[in-house]
Amino acid sequence: MFTAPQATDHKSLSAPDWSAIRADFPLLSQLAHQQPLAYLDNAATTQKPNAVIDSITHFYRFDNANVHRGAYQLSERATLAFETARDKIQRFLHAPSREEVIFVRGATEAINLVAQSYARPRLKPGDEILISAMEHHSNIVPWQMVCLQTGALLKVVPINDSAEINIAEYQALLNKKTKVVALTHLSNALGSITPVDQMIAMAHAREIPVLVDGAQAAPHLSLDVKQLDCDFYTFSGHKIYAPTGIGVLYGKQSYLEAMEPYQGGGDMISRVSFEHSDYNCLPYKFEAGTPNIAGVIGLGAAIDYIQAIGIDHIKQRERLLLDYATAGVSLIKGLRIIGTARDKASILSFVMDSAHPHDISTILDQQGVAIRAGHHCAMPVMTRFDVPATARASFSFYNNESDIDQFLQGLHLVNNIFSGKNG
Ligand code: ALA
Repeated sequence: MFTAPQATDHKSLSAPDWSAIRADFPLLSQLAHQQPLAYLDNAATTQKPNAVIDSITHFYRFDNANVHRGAYQLSERATLAFETARDKIQRFLHAPSREEVIFVRGATEAINLVAQSYARPRLKPGDEILISAMEHHSNIVPWQMVCLQTGALLKVVPINDSAEINIAEYQALLNKKTKVVALTHLSNALGSITPVDQMIAMAHAREIPVLVDGAQAAPHLSLDVKQLDCDFYTFSGHKIYAPTGIGVLYGKQSYLEAMEPYQGGGDMISRVSFEHSDYNCLPYKFEAGTPNIAGVIGLGAAIDYIQAIGIDHIKQRERLLLDYATAGVSLIKGLRIIGTARDKASILSFVMDSAHPHDISTILDQQGVAIRAGHHCAMPVMTRFDVPATARASFSFYNNESDIDQFLQGLHLVNNIFSGKNG
């Protein structure tokens, strides 16, 4: 079995220089519509620091070869870089072993893998899958597909008007028919942080496994899958400063060992004949085909980068930015925040009396401000709050007060335009 060397732990103790950090992201220095670019769509995807861009360029310039296959030096180097990234991710998640870190295309594929490889073969008609009312479509639709395939039923824990999960309802919904619980760690449409530790303990009291969708949480919160005791945890590289097309499924070894792969192909087998195939050991059993090698290496570089800043510094910085923006929008006439949970991170969703979210985002774009408008792949959340869509600003540590001031000025302009003050 391949064993990669330990990477250096770069955790810094002193307060980070946030303007130097912003300068690490080359894309952010461009103009948009002749204004400084204020990129506030970090929940959709994050920008990439030079360290990530350089790691990918270096791989293609010097180390490109397929992994786990070649007996020559180049392939050994590519394999070493690829597997070293797996070790970094294991440490980032505090996963007990590297065999529990599976590379996939993103959180969506990770959830589909668990739905098809864990749930589908085990669920029977009448069994229940429990999710929350604030899931992204990627943590709804794969379970609906399993329900269609098995006759199981999808149950939904409601949220209150502040976008917090109703724990009493959750307790009431957990029962002997519940076979899987799947929860977002941080809602992409509302910013609410789910009390997953408490909810996992409650599910485990009934021996129900829990999947946590960490697509939004991974860039903003400290992660420790061992402490959480979740059975599966998923996240996407592109939301954590790494490339698109790479993500991670963490699964407890006991579950992963018991699961059959749902995709077959190269590298996931140990022996193939026309009569029968034996599968490879973990984690390779779930990694059919040539993986996204450059993406994995870029993800490793992104994890190094954020660990060098320190997740506690990131959390503090993003809290300040969210508080600053929340205070600013509270002064804007006719604006209503959708998602006011006490425990919240990095996401500010809102509607305005004067304009549709798409008009808000179009006007902000003209001011150099990039936000997202729409249902954010969470249509049931829009239904819950009785809005067709929201406008959403989402923050990263590389944003600053000037970005938010530009955003707030844009919102005042929206009100002026739609009240006729700007002609
Ligand atoms: N899930 C991403 C978002 O929230 C695309 O914008």
